[in-house]
Amino acid sequence: MISVPKGTKDVLPNQSYKWQYIEDAAREVARVFNYKEVRTPVFEHTELFQRGVGETTDVVKKEMYTFLDKGGRSMTLKPEGTAGVARMFIENGLASSPMPIKTFYITPAFRYENPQAGRLREFHQFGIEVFGSLSPETDAEVIFAASSFLNKLKIKGVKLEINSIGCRICRNEYNKALKNYFESRLEEMCANCRSRFDKNPLRILDCKEEKCKKLAEAAPKITDYLCEDCKKHFDTVRLLLDAQGLEYTVNPNIVRGLDYYSRTVFEFVSTSIGAQGTVCGGGRYDGLISELGGSNLPAIGFAAGIERLLLLMENTGVPFPEDKVPTIYLAGMDDKSRAQTFKIAMGLRERGVSAEVDHMQRSVKAQLKYADKAGAKFVAVIGESELESGVLNLKKMSDGTTAAVKSEELYTYLNKVIKEEK
Ligand code: HAM
Repeated sequence: MISVPKGTKDVLPNQSYKWQYIEDAAREVARVFNYKEVRTPVFEHTELFQRGVGETTDVVKKEMYTFLDKGGRSMTLKPEGTAGVARMFIENGLASSPMPIKTFYITPAFRYENPQAGRLREFHQFGIEVFGSLSPETDAEVIFAASSFLNKLKIKGVKLEINSIGCRICRNEYNKALKNYFESRLEEMCANCRSRFDKNPLRILDCKEEKCKKLAEAAPKITDYLCEDCKKHFDTVRLLLDAQGLEYTVNPNIVRGLDYYSRTVFEFVSTSIGAQGTVCGGGRYDGLISELGGSNLPAIGFAAGIERLLLLMENTGVPFPEDKVPTIYLAGMDDKSRAQTFKIAMGLRERGVSAEVDHMQRSVKAQLKYADKAGAKFVAVIGESELESGVLNLKKMSDGTTAAVKSEELYTYLNKVIKEEK
C-alpha cells in the first residue's frame, strides 16, 4: 500500500467540516476588516525565498522543497505565503493603486522539518498582508484582525506576545552588541550559529539547539537599542492595543524565524499543544518590497497555522458546529419509485435543498438505516401509493413526528423548516 508522505495529512470526509469552519471564520474576519483574497502559485523561483526569507534562516538553509523543473530552473514549493504575495504586488504594479492594499490568503505551505504534533511538512496558513502603510494604526489593526480571528473561533488561553526588532539603523547597533556578547562564547555554540555570527547574529536568537538557546537568554535585548523613531512607533502600537483592552506581554526574545521583519513583531502562543505552541505569527516587513526589486514601500502581516488551530481546538474542547447533513432522504420501494426519488431529489437540489437517495440498490429497511447514519433531517419512503397520490409521508428524524406533504409542496415545506431552524 502506498502511504501518505511523512509530515503530510489527509483531510477525511468526516473531518473536512472543521476545516471549512476555520476557513469560513478566516474569510469572515477578512471581510469585516476589508482584506481582499489573493492566490499565488504553490511554487516560485527559488531565488524569491532566498532573497525574501533570507539565506541564513532555517527555512531557506534546511527546510525548502527545492527542485529543478524540466527546463533546468530551480523552483521551490512555497515555505510561507508572504514572499509570493510581495512578488505578486510588485509584478502587477499594485504600488500605483491607492494605498493601503489589504490582502488575505489561505494556502498550503511546505517545510522539510521533523514532523511532530503541530509541525508538518505540508501545512496550511491563513495569512493577511497589508502594503503601503507605515502607520502604527496598521500594526494595531493587523494584530486586532488576528485576535478577532481567534476570538471568532472561541479559542481561549492564547497569549499575545509582541516586540519591536527595530529598523536597519537600530539593528546595526544591536548586531554589534550581539557580536560583542557572543564573541567570547563561540566555542559553546552550534556550527550553524557560528556561521550566523558572521552573517546575521540576530538569527542566533531563534536557534533551536538547547546550548544556543541558553546562551541567547542572557544576550543583549533589542528593545534597549531601538532608535527614537522605532521606539515611538512601538509605543504608539502599544497605546492602540491598550486602548482596545487587548492584553499582551512585551517579549524582547521574539525575533521571528524569517529575515524580512522590521519593527513590530508578534506571536499568539498557546501552552496546550506542546512545543509548537505558536498558532499565529507576524510583523512588519518594511524592507522586503524594495529588497525584491519593488519601490520603497512598507508592509505588515501575519499567518496562522490551520493545523495548529485545529489541534488546539480539539485539545481544549472548543466546540465545532455540527457537520452539514442532508435535509431529506428519499427512499424508493421499487424501480419505478426509485426513479421518482431521483426526480424529486434533483428538483430539490436545483433549488438549494440538500437531498439524498439510494445509490446501492438497498432494501427500504437498509436505506432508512443509511439515512439515519447520514443524519438526514427528514425521510420519505416512496412506493406505489405515494406515486399514485403524489402525497409523501414525511418523517422528522429528531422526534419521529410525521406530516403528509404533496410532492409539489415539498420544497416550500422543507425551505420553511430550514429557515425556522436558522
Ligand atoms: P511563521 O511564523 O513561519 O510565519 O509561520 C506562521 C504560522 O504557520 C506559525 O505560527 C504556525 O502556526 C504555522 N506553521 C509554521 N510552520 C509550520 C509547520 N511546519 N507545521 C505546521 N504549522 C506551521 C510566516 O510564515 C510568515 N509568513 C507570517 C507573516 C505574514 N509575517 C508577515 N506576514
